Amino acid sequence: MYEMKDEYLTGIEQIDNEHRVLFEIAEEIYQLCVNEFVPDKYDHITNLIQRLKDYSAMHFKNEEDYMESIQYKRMFTQKIQHDNFIRKLDNMDLEIVDQNQEQIIKDLLKFVTDWLIEHILETDKRIAE
Ligand SMILES: [Fe+2]
Ligand SMILES: [Fe+2]
Repeated sequence: MYEMKDEYLTGIEQIDNEHRVLFEIAEEIYQLCVNEFVPDKYDHITNLIQRLKDYSAMHFKNEEDYMESIQYKRMFTQKIQHDNFIRKLDNMDLEIVDQNQEQIIKDLLKFVTDWLIEHILETDKRIAE
């Protein structure tokens, strides 16, 4: 359902490879969302949130280092968007996650995929311009 597409390519190999992994994690969230055979998804959800947080934090750091190395002018906007993404994941209340598992996965999936696609198309693709 979710995967890297040609239109998302920035032309910077490392960044594109890391975006590919982020789409793979998004796909895992989707697969968990539609899986009807797992009655209790709590551990899977918290695990995916943690992996998403760890991987995106690493990716944002690499991307920001790259922007710094080329003295990219719009880096500040980038950093604000990156920080907001991490903050949103940090602020997820795990108690609420447990009580509303299906809704939380749906919301998480929508947030991650909307953010990822919009951020790559509108913001990351401009880095190599
Ligand atoms: Fe990125
Ligand atoms: Fe970015």
